[in-house]
Amino acid sequence: MEYLRHRGERIPLIGLGTYRFGENGRQDEIAVLKYGISRLGMTLLDTAEMYGGGLSEEILGEAVRGLDRESLFIVDKILPHNAAAGRFFESCTRSLERLGTDCIDLYLLHWRGDADLQQTVFEMERLVSEGLIRHWGVSNFDTDDMQELFECEMGSRCFCDQILYNITARGAEFDLIPWCKEHDVLVMGYSPLCNCSSARQAVAGGALAADIAAREGKTPESLMLSFAVRNRDIAAVFKTASIPHLEWNMQNVFEPIPPEELELLSAKYPPPDRKYPLEKI
Ligand SMILES: NC(=O)c1ccc[n+]([C@@H]2O[C@H](COP(=O)([O-])OP(=O)(O)OC[C@H]3O[C@@H](n4cnc5c(N)ncnc54)[C@H](OP(=O)(O)O)[C@@H]3O)[C@@H](O)[C@H]2O)c1
Repeated sequence: MEYLRHRGERIPLIGLGTYRFGENGRQDEIAVLKYGISRLGMTLLDTAEMYGGGLSEEILGEAVRGLDRESLFIVDKILPHNAAAGRFFESCTRSLERLGTDCIDLYLLHWRGDADLQQTVFEMERLVSEGLIRHWGVSNFDTDDMQELFECEMGSRCFCDQILYNITARGAEFDLIPWCKEHDVLVMGYSPLCNCSSARQAVAGGALAADIAAREGKTPESLMLSFAVRNRDIAAVFKTASIPHLEWNMQNVFEPIPPEELELLSAKYPPPDRKYPLEKI
């Protein structure tokens, strides 16, 4: 595993997501998490109270039971409608119970919704001071949302913005990623494999990705992941419930993509030439 450093933390560049975990094959999902952690050092683990109505948190909790808690970096998310006084603390403690841990490493507001930003910051800071979470952040915040957040008291303590980012969704490169860098906010990319089968296949099944992957000893999917973390300043979390897929996706993933291959990829999947609204799932 390779790591990035952010505000004194050592964070794996690539982690495992758990979206849709709990919908089928619980034992396979647990096996994938255990395999990723123990064999590939994938200790960045992403979940949310929304996924499977809490089942994904339970599955993650079961997968990490008995492991050295300090070796893991667990990311969890609160729904905007729970990010209100009276519900915030309860939501967090319910997530902790399902995870079977006493502290979440990074707790995110899942999307902005109707959440009151100042209230959210105060509640997040309260959870930090009570030791229930170590860091807090947001998800699906575009540049204007981040600017508004930073106008709140203690808003600049936001550790991370988790956003949709992959080779076909590069809009954030125009202003959001530079803004986050300038303001010391970690960008974590979700859906680095384009989320759905047809979108992934449109890239991975194409001649360009196949040719470059073959030349570089990667698979098309590991090329997509390599692309997402190519500058070593963005972490990425992908999901799989299959150990063969996991191994396939991680093949040679940290070998840099040579500049001439990056140019070819950018010719087909160009960076943004203007501001686009942040894409979300
Ligand atoms: N903050 C947010 O709002 C937000 C939104 C979406 C996602 N996320 C997080 O980011 C994580 C990753 O995003 P994602 O799940 O949307 O998308 P993703 O990781 O881009 O793609 C996951 C899909 O790709 C398939 N896949 C993976 N490797 C494959 C392979 N080698 N061959 C064929 N299919 C393969 C998976 O199916 P298999 O299981 O069959 O491999 C799954 O259907 C989520 O799990 C979640 O933790 C956050």
